[in-house]
Amino acid sequence: MPKKIAAGNWKMNGTSAALTQLEALAPVAAASTGVLTLICPPASLISRAAGLGVEIGAQDCHAAVSGAHTGDISAEMLADAGASHVITGHSERRQDHHETDADVAAKTQAGWRAGLTVILCIGESEEQYRAGQTLDVLRGQLAGSVPQGAGPDNIVIAYEPIWAIGTGLTPTVEEIAKVHAFIRAELGAAHTEGAEISLLYGGSVKASNAAEIFAVADVDGGLVGGASLAAADFAPIVTALAAS
Ligand code: PGA
Repeated sequence: MPKKIAAGNWKMNGTSAALTQLEALAPVAAASTGVLTLICPPASLISRAAGLGVEIGAQDCHAAVSGAHTGDISAEMLADAGASHVITGHSERRQDHHETDADVAAKTQAGWRAGLTVILCIGESEEQYRAGQTLDVLRGQLAGSVPQGAGPDNIVIAYEPIWAIGTGLTPTVEEIAKVHAFIRAELGAAHTEGAEISLLYGGSVKASNAAEIFAVADVDGGLVGGASLAAADFAPIVTALAAS
C-alpha cells in the first residue's frame, strides 16, 4: 500500500515566529496514525524546525554536492540541517527559475544521493488543460524528470495542476481520479514497484475539500501550500487524511 502523506509547502513564508505552528501541529501529527505529516519550511528554518515533532522537508536543492554556486543549497546540506524530504520540480521553480525536466531529474538524484525522499511535482498549465493536453504533458514530465531507480522508498509524486495552485480552483474529483490512475499506471510500467509510489494531489487543498479529495482512488495524500501555514488550517487536513 502506498504511504499516506500530508505535506505542507510554506514556500517563501515564515520566520522564527512560525515555529510555534509546528509545535501546535505536533500532537495532531502524533495522533494521526498511518499518516506521515511533513512541513517544508523555508531553508532558513529547517534546522530549528527539525525535532519539533513534525517531519521536515526542503523546497528545492542544487544538483551538486558543493561548490561555487552562490545562493544555492545542496541536498547534503539540507539533510545535515535535519530535512528528511525535498521537493523537486515545483511549478514555481519550473517557471520562475526555468527548471527543465533534466534539471528536475538531476536534483532528484541529488536528493537520493543525500538520503532524502523526493517529492517530485508535475502538472499542466491552464492553457494545456483547456487544450486537453493534460495526460500528454504529464507523460512527458514523468518520462523526463523521474529517474530510473524510483520506487516507494525514495520518491513521492505530487500532481499539481498549475491553474489550481493558490487560485481556489480545483479539478473535479473525476478529473483527479483519471489523472492519478494515469500516473499510477505510467509509474507502474516504468519502474519496479512504481505502482506503490505515493501520489499526492496539490492545488487549493483546504479543510473544506480535503475529505472529498482524499476519498478519490489513487490519491494518497496532499501537497498543501496556503492552508499549511497555520496549524489550525492544516490540522483538519491531516485528520481528514487519517480518516480516509
Ligand atoms: P496551494 O499551493 O495549496 O496554496 O494552492 C499548493 C502548492 O503549490 O504546493
